[in-house]
Amino acid sequence: MAARPRVFVARRLPDDGIEPIVAACDARIWEDDLPPPRPELLEAIRGCDGVLTLLTDRVDDEFLDAAGPGLKVVSNYAVGFDNIDVAAVTRRGIPAGNTPGVLTETTADLAWALLMAAARRLPEGDRYVRDGKWKTWGPLLLLGPDVHGSTIGIVGFGRIGQAMARRARGFGMTVLYQDIQPVDAAVEAELGATRLPLEELLPQADFVSLHTNLTPETRGMMDAEKLSWMKPTAVLVNTSRGPVIDHAALADALRSGAIFAAALDVTDPEPIPMDDPLVGLDNCLIVPHIASASRATRGKMAEMAAANLLAGVRGQRLPTPVNPEVYEGR
Ligand code: GLV
Ligand code: GLV
Repeated sequence: MAARPRVFVARRLPDDGIEPIVAACDARIWEDDLPPPRPELLEAIRGCDGVLTLLTDRVDDEFLDAAGPGLKVVSNYAVGFDNIDVAAVTRRGIPAGNTPGVLTETTADLAWALLMAAARRLPEGDRYVRDGKWKTWGPLLLLGPDVHGSTIGIVGFGRIGQAMARRARGFGMTVLYQDIQPVDAAVEAELGATRLPLEELLPQADFVSLHTNLTPETRGMMDAEKLSWMKPTAVLVNTSRGPVIDHAALADALRSGAIFAAALDVTDPEPIPMDDPLVGLDNCLIVPHIASASRATRGKMAEMAAANLLAGVRGQRLPTPVNPEVYEGR
């Protein structure tokens, strides 16, 4: 009998993923709540056939050298894969997998919750009650903008951006979007969405929600200039990747009232340092990168990440590769 493939799994995952991996492989699972420190990670992957990584694990030439020439697959437990140097894995002919599709609606749910919570000032209201400040019904207490009937600008109109548009439709909102590619006319019509460049979208939107990948083009995209194009009443929501926003510029905009509020699921860096100016601002709501954190979705992500890992160690095509070009000419 051939030796079982050796794999390293960089964190405990839901059983839906761990069970099939442990059944088929000689698997080591990192049991800590915190990610493996770099030296431990590099040591743990030495000689592995496959590695299941998280967005906290950087996959680059150093990682690939440490794993060695037997590495057949990197399976990322996330839809985003900016932690992976795709050019480096592809150069070595190694497929990398991600978990697209299953977390679309769950992530849009959280983006929507952030939008609603920031508009209607739920964290501030909750703090107000717990701080014992609630003395009477206040005509001017914690006022915010209406969500229904307003205009949303969705930046990045892929699966999650479009799921956001469907929610906005239910609230009678006008939907504007920006993307490098226009979507199908039929999809635009179904979602009632109009594509505009940022210089037109940002000044019109009451809510701006970011759903782009992190790429060299989108890094720092929401800088001081772009923030200044937004309305002073507008709310900025980010469930994409922290570095898409220039955090110092955002803190300035929130402090000066250049925009009304922000709601962030992702920050730069993560975790956000407690002395970051954003942490001290009442009009900035921050949650710890939990957009896909429903029990069902995290289970499905684990299943998909396991399926990519197992296909890879068996030399089969990954169900969801991020670099399908490795299969060209095979
Ligand atoms: C989480 O941020 C993911 O990319 O799945
Ligand atoms: C608010 O509680 C109202 O009744 O207007």
